[in-house]
Amino acid sequence: MRSPSLKSLSFALIVALGTVPPWTAQAASPEPVKAEHGMVVTAQHLASDIGVEVLKKGGNAIDAAVAVGYALAVVYPTAGNIGGGGFMTIRFKDGKTTFLDFRERAPLAATKSMYLDDKGNLVKGLSTNGYLAVGVPGPVMGFEHARSRYGTRPLKELIAPAIKLAEEGFVLEQGDVESFDGRTERLAKDPAAAAIFLKPGGKPFAVGEKLVQADLAASLSSIAEKGPDAFYKGAIADAIVKASAEKGGILAKKDFEQYAVRELEPVKCNYRGYDIVSSPPPSSGGVIICEILNILEGYPLSYLGYGSAETVHAMIEAMRHAYVDRNTALGDPDFVENPVSKLTDKAYAKEIRDKIEPFRAGVSQALMPAGFAESKETTHYSIIDDDGNAVAVTYTLNGSFGAGVVAPGTGILLNNEMDDFTAKPGAPNLYGLVQGEANAIAPGKTPLSSMSPTIVSKDGKPFMVIGSPGGARIITITLEAIINVIDHGMNIQEAVDAPRLHHQWLPDKVFMEPYALSPDTRKLLAAMGHDVQIDESWKIWGQATGILVGGENLEEIGAGGGARFNGAVDSRIGAGAARGY
Ligand code: GLY
Repeated sequence: MRSPSLKSLSFALIVALGTVPPWTAQAASPEPVKAEHGMVVTAQHLASDIGVEVLKKGGNAIDAAVAVGYALAVVYPTAGNIGGGGFMTIRFKDGKTTFLDFRERAPLAATKSMYLDDKGNLVKGLSTNGYLAVGVPGPVMGFEHARSRYGTRPLKELIAPAIKLAEEGFVLEQGDVESFDGRTERLAKDPAAAAIFLKPGGKPFAVGEKLVQADLAASLSSIAEKGPDAFYKGAIADAIVKASAEKGGILAKKDFEQYAVRELEPVKCNYRGYDIVSSPPPSSGGVIICEILNILEGYPLSYLGYGSAETVHAMIEAMRHAYVDRNTALGDPDFVENPVSKLTDKAYAKEIRDKIEPFRAGVSQALMPAGFAESKETTHYSIIDDDGNAVAVTYTLNGSFGAGVVAPGTGILLNNEMDDFTAKPGAPNLYGLVQGEANAIAPGKTPLSSMSPTIVSKDGKPFMVIGSPGGARIITITLEAIINVIDHGMNIQEAVDAPRLHHQWLPDKVFMEPYALSPDTRKLLAAMGHDVQIDESWKIWGQATGILVGGENLEEIGAGGGARFNGAVDSRIGAGAARGY
């Protein structure tokens, strides 16, 4: 930015006085949902109801997270799952934090070049469709790890509502039907998936019709009876391995038997006095959110204003630089050395800021490291309980309905998470991400993720629980919700609803949601050299779910506080709900 001295002065004044700027954004959004004892925000209202019931009965946020995880596997089949993988960030009432990695692992028979033909070219669809795309699933083990260590309720009790919904079915509302949009052809290709998720004759379900999932109910019942062994050592693993072998996959029983959850230290950083706790590798999410926030901390965003060309320029350049690191330096921590300390260091952020030219767009190709050739469906839920335990979970099948396959008899949709690996260095994946060797495929390795379940605290108390789906955009969606609250004074609902921007280094383009920027602002950005494109598909822009503690925005918190818990489900979500009590 050009000589921000006056602006910096005003900004310093704002920080010193602790006031919310008078130009606080007033986006048009419904009021956040308010409650005093607990809050559950998920992408499907029935799952939110189940989570709140757990809290009301005295279960803690971890219990609720487990019950919601199983419920979403039934009522939100586009992304909720037990056949995929995910992450859970926990901040306990005493301020301690932890992180559970229950993401997919590559099968032991996986090889670095498994998606290439004999000429070394990518074979289209191999890493996204069918059994060869499937990584070894983790949620059943992950939920049990969380429940047995940190929960208070028996598994049977937490899984029972999901079994009931699968057995008896639930009536589809418009938002549910929308989540099936455009998936008919894909689901029709797999007879077991079609038999569950399409009507006889291959037609999609309509609003008011009931989705019953008898096989899934049976699988969930056996997990309730026998615990994770039912999935990893019993009939479920057998059925998946058999279907995989019959349909060109490489999953083996051993892959399931040796699956283990990793409990890791979350990534931590501080942004303008707020403590951020988020996902470490094998996610890039927390590291890259911290890197971008550290860079942005040097700009008076609040003063420059939401959506101004100067704010947007700073955001784009911070994203451009950070995504180079995301795509080239990070991978599974059991396989590669991740430079987390360097990337989250404030001095490194300053080095990057020094390279950012005021009023001139950077050039992505110029940032190409030596030797580096050139709707995405996930779901996030946020929970907080009466004691102040906070849980952020993001879990995924990767693409909508994953690989589009269900092993006959299981009712369990399987992921296509193998596509998150670098199938070929320099070639874009499902999310257009161009990645490097650190994320190459290897047996037992976990593909690099962008999932960013994040908890922010202030002065030792929980402040915000936030995260989103959105593929490569998960990071910038989560980041923008944070700065919308902290820098732009939005309430939590406005913060998750506000139109978004995204840059991921390659392709060298700024993607904007319709209405995110005025034509004047776009002209100013174009004059700086930014290639700004409107990306209309609402599905690609994620569906954030957030909770703000102590008031609906900073102004209310600063004035002595409002409701204790303020929940917001992204208005982009059709079926989601924030529920409190
Ligand atoms: N499959 C999306 C992610 O993990 O980033």
